[in-house]
Amino acid sequence: MKKEEVFENYRDYIMPTYTKVPLIFTKGKGSRLWDIHNKAYLDFFPGWGVGNLGHCHPKVVQAVRDQIGKLIFIPNNYYHLPQAKLAKEIIYWSYPAKVFFCNSGAEASEGAVKLARKFGKGRYEIITFENSFHGRTLAALAATGQKKYQSGFEPLPEGFKTVAFNDITAVKNAITDKTVAIMLELIQGEGGINVAAKDFVLELRKICDQKNLLLIVDEVQTGIGRTGKLFCYQHYGITPDVMTLAKALGGGLPIGVMVVKKEIADTLGPGMHASTFGGGLVICKAASAVLKAIQKEKLLTHAQKMSAYLFAGLNVLKEKFAIIKEVRGLGLMAGVELNIEGKAIVEKCLEKGLLINCTHDKVLRLMPALNITSKEIDKALTILEAVMKGS
Ligand SMILES: Cc1ncc(COP(=O)(O)O)c(C=O)c1O
Repeated sequence: MKKEEVFENYRDYIMPTYTKVPLIFTKGKGSRLWDIHNKAYLDFFPGWGVGNLGHCHPKVVQAVRDQIGKLIFIPNNYYHLPQAKLAKEIIYWSYPAKVFFCNSGAEASEGAVKLARKFGKGRYEIITFENSFHGRTLAALAATGQKKYQSGFEPLPEGFKTVAFNDITAVKNAITDKTVAIMLELIQGEGGINVAAKDFVLELRKICDQKNLLLIVDEVQTGIGRTGKLFCYQHYGITPDVMTLAKALGGGLPIGVMVVKKEIADTLGPGMHASTFGGGLVICKAASAVLKAIQKEKLLTHAQKMSAYLFAGLNVLKEKFAIIKEVRGLGLMAGVELNIEGKAIVEKCLEKGLLINCTHDKVLRLMPALNITSKEIDKALTILEAVMKGS
């Protein structure tokens, strides 16, 4: 198929729900991608937060190959080894809990909302935060504290109260006798890389304990090593009651997980919640390979080192360019807030072979793979500097 035909087919046969960049990628390895003309790109936003191991990690590829020829699908009313193994591994690396497997972040959010309502026995209100993002399905959208995503899809499910992020008084004021949970991202990814303050999170944990509320932590974007620890909550000295995972866990294949602390994990019983494809054999094998690679290749330690290197470089750029207002983030989840729109910078970086993202209009988002090298970071910073010089 010729390039023009690909674009035509998208235009004619695929709903236009994505803002698209006219590039056709055909190959990826580590932090490199190649387009249809064999032009190479350095990927500092792999898979929108999916590529924590970079593209086509050999252990993930091997795991998929090993499984796919044996058995691809078996429904969830039977047992299989890869799901049993992955569940145990997730719990080993997190906290005493049980998991529910689904296929995406939004589905994990939906699961958490259903679980909270069942747990609440009549209490149903969930407190969420301004500038949060929890997915595009209706309950996940209702939990998302950004009107731009909700507009036109009303009426949204009831029972969500959105308050200011990092504002403990606002949280306290929002609690009623109907409140059942508080749901948050510890670093708001789509909302502009806003990091939750430690005191705020510790106070949330205390309030949840005192009032028998569930603390639901959305780690869809922050999980799987992104912040230099396997899960972001581990920076805060708290344990969530419910954690949602997706994106990077599958190594490029679709997965969602709701991790529910043991004491309340049987709140949802047989027939109350389900997913046909959730926790399939191939994806579970791939996810186990991701977790194993992170440990074996010591990627958390490496990511912490590369984080220091990246942030030092970004702060040098901040000194040089007045358009940079703030550099913030944690681990390899970096935000560069500008005092101008970031779209043109992203486009110019792309022309020079660097893929980055801009969120919340003015925040450049860099989330390289955990196995990124200092040489690759140098290259990315050189391109960013050249682009900023010209803007
Ligand atoms: C924090 C967070 N939660 C949930 C989602 C939704 O995930 P998915 O697109 O897999 O439904 C996203 C997606 O960007 C996210 O960043």
